Amino acid sequence: MSGADRGASEPLLELDRVALSYGPVRALTDVSLAIRAGEVVGLVGDNGAGKSSLVKLVAGVHRPTAGAMRWQGRVYAPRGPRDALEAGIATIHQHLALAPRLPVWHNLFLGAERVRRSVLFGLSVLDVARMREEAKRALARLAIRVPDVDRPVGELSGGQRQAVAIARALLWNARLLVMDEPTAALGVRETEEVRTLIRGLKGEGVAVLLVSHDMQDVVAVADRVAVLRKGRLAAVREAAGLDADRLAHLVMTAEAA
Ligand SMILES: Nc1ncnc2c1ncn2[C@@H]1O[C@H](COP(=O)(O)OP(=O)(O)OP(=O)(O)O)[C@@H](O)[C@H]1O
Ligand SMILES: [Mg+2]
Repeated sequence: MSGADRGASEPLLELDRVALSYGPVRALTDVSLAIRAGEVVGLVGDNGAGKSSLVKLVAGVHRPTAGAMRWQGRVYAPRGPRDALEAGIATIHQHLALAPRLPVWHNLFLGAERVRRSVLFGLSVLDVARMREEAKRALARLAIRVPDVDRPVGELSGGQRQAVAIARALLWNARLLVMDEPTAALGVRETEEVRTLIRGLKGEGVAVLLVSHDMQDVVAVADRVAVLRKGRLAAVREAAGLDADRLAHLVMTAEAA
């Protein structure tokens, strides 16, 4: 087996019996799940089932209270979101962490601004021209059009904001993109654009973990579906052969093993 073959079949990310508690509240119990390169895994479940908690473990926001994670075959124990990004895992959280007053280009680089040396004073200054150019290029990859990188994010539509959050994740050349309810605030056309984008990423070999309440979303793009119920993994299914109604039924009836 060649290295490339092995890379394709081995999981990128593995969760091995992870648990997460917030003080007395048990959000996740004994969850084991693997995601491969170029695979789209849908994560579904009722409100409070633990979906965002799982996202936060993967994103390095919280640490598991039991169990372990592996990334590309090695122990993965991020101490914070920066560790996750540097490993190649980018996350778009349920409530987008964008700065509404700052322009689009600055939002893309928030916390990772490009700098250059000032010719006049020899000081480090923000390389605005470079960031504007890179922002334009990153956004051009997406189906959702953002008209102007100089516009404050607060003036954009929900779909355009989602595009900014996605472009920011893509700047890191992530190998896994985690999206928590990316279409919750979107219209029909924008939702279709996000689906197109997910298919495009999959085509580039990027893995996607998609959390969504929208069963149509999940069956439209996922290869496999994982169902959380009260913090436990209640079912994992191939998406082929599932439609939105069947999946909704599974969410309601699947019992944790
Ligand atoms: N910071 C926190 N402190 C205490 N409890 C929390 C915290 N965050 C989540 N929880 C609890 O953990 C459980 C799982 O919450 P989580 O946000 O992961 O669910 P979810 O599946 O993402 O729900 P939703 O579909 O509403 O987004 C819930 O009981 C929730 O009340
Ligand atoms: Mg959530």
